Amino acid sequence: MKHILEALEDRRAAARLGGGQVRVDAQHKRGKLSARERIELLLDHGSFEEFDMFVQHRCTDFGMDQGEKIPGDGVVTGWGTVNGRTVYVFAKDFTVFGGSLSETHAQKITKIQDMALRNRAPIIGIFDAGGARIQEGVAALGGYGEVFQRNVLASGVIPQISLIMGPCAGGDVYSPAMTDFIFMVRDTSYMFVTGPDVVKTVTNETVTAEELGGASVHTTRSSIADRAYENDVEALLQMRRLIDFLPASNRDEIPEWPSFDESDREDMSLDTLIPDNTNKPYDIKELIVKVVDERDFFEIQEAHARNIVVGFGRVEGRTIGIVANQPMVLAGVLDSDASRKAARFVRFCDAFGIPVVTFVDVPGFLPGTAQEYGGLIKHGAKLLFAYAEATVPKVTVITRKAFGGAYDVMASKHLRGDVNYAWPTAQIAVMGAKGAVEIIFRADIGDKDKIAERTKEYEERFLSPFVAAERGYIDDVIMPHSTRRRISRALGMLRHKELENPWKKHDNIPL
Ligand code: HXC
Repeated sequence: MKHILEALEDRRAAARLGGGQVRVDAQHKRGKLSARERIELLLDHGSFEEFDMFVQHRCTDFGMDQGEKIPGDGVVTGWGTVNGRTVYVFAKDFTVFGGSLSETHAQKITKIQDMALRNRAPIIGIFDAGGARIQEGVAALGGYGEVFQRNVLASGVIPQISLIMGPCAGGDVYSPAMTDFIFMVRDTSYMFVTGPDVVKTVTNETVTAEELGGASVHTTRSSIADRAYENDVEALLQMRRLIDFLPASNRDEIPEWPSFDESDREDMSLDTLIPDNTNKPYDIKELIVKVVDERDFFEIQEAHARNIVVGFGRVEGRTIGIVANQPMVLAGVLDSDASRKAARFVRFCDAFGIPVVTFVDVPGFLPGTAQEYGGLIKHGAKLLFAYAEATVPKVTVITRKAFGGAYDVMASKHLRGDVNYAWPTAQIAVMGAKGAVEIIFRADIGDKDKIAERTKEYEERFLSPFVAAERGYIDDVIMPHSTRRRISRALGMLRHKELENPWKKHDNIPL
């Protein structure tokens, strides 16, 4: 009996070594952890239950039947817990055939995807791989298809998170692209459909892997990645933090953690947050961190479309999604990128029952040919659509400007905002005073005194929250210092909100 037990231990030890110590050392030399080390850091200590560690590839082409068969076949899969809550995980093992995907490798991943979906818990994929296993041909392509199909079925049912911690090329990029969030590691990870060599052949462009698909490109320009971290350890610890914000599935309650921050805490400094000069910027993140529990804000896409801020926080220990115009960047204007960014975030929150709190200070949509040619109408409509279809609790606070179409879009009463507050500094109007006066009093344009008088009249009448409040579009004009208390009470009141959209197969959001 003893030797049987020892034989099992030996087989396990061999499987745990993956592609061997030399390749693991090479991985470390590049500043990367191994697949198993990553899982260890991601999950609660000792909670990982591994599946399929003895699975091997079945390929016979290109001498694969003669070569080494490494147990596990380039991906480590299983489940464990993060702060006691179940998550499923697969981590590509770059030390085995460069983490490339074979038929059996794909079967290991789809087994985990199926389990995650059936048992309604988040799934995290860790990528560090060279795409389809070239020797397996169409069997590998078929494997990817099976993974993709499951990504789509799980979308909106369980949270799916992708962590890119090395090369991620070819078939490996499309699975992450269909998940809810993608995170990268600076300098060691990159994502592209085709690598620099193919780019050179096809387009004659010379580009490095970093320039083509590094973390800085994908967190700023392409917005493929939601955030980048300095190293593997930081990225994995931040994933634990993110998981704590998310419900296990679309049918599960949002998590509730003990909060040591009084929900009726007032913050007098907010009374002076808005500068006297209405064209002066201020940092909306100051408001966000003063409203959420313990200043804990997990920002998504912080480096892209910085004129809008989105991310997760908590009030009374329960997760909220925050969307806020940022006056510090482009005066908080809505452009195509900001609209797409916020729309996707609102839809995530709505899919997973996370209430949305919106802070509004927006001078309108960005004018100009660049925006119009780039499809601003459709991109802006995405945000409008997302807010309008959302049935989760929606609490909105207008801090300053809410002009034009952007007033409607930003979770207004007309888009089924549940509780809509404004600060006394709010200005809710079709447009700012200068533009408005120049249009409606065009005949007086030559007369400076008259224009000044008209402008003052317009400002007094329209640049306040009270015209909207008179109509009930604003439920109350609140003191800035009481914002956290008012939001917290509103969310408490809305906890059992029930609202359903008419039955449909699915909607047709302007993509
Ligand atoms: C089989 C692969 C492999 C692959 C890497 N390896 N990619 N084996 N299939 N796709 C193996 C290498 O042979 C090597 O084995 C080990 O992994 C490490 O690879 P290196 O090239 O030595 O490492 P590095 O220099 O770091 O380069 C990593 C890399 C590069 C950038 C990922 O390997 C690469 O470009 N690979 C090919 C990428 C690619 O084009 N994939 C196919 C995409 S098409 P040894 O034994 O020497 O350690 C695709 C279609 C699916 O995915 C489409 C679905 C929609």
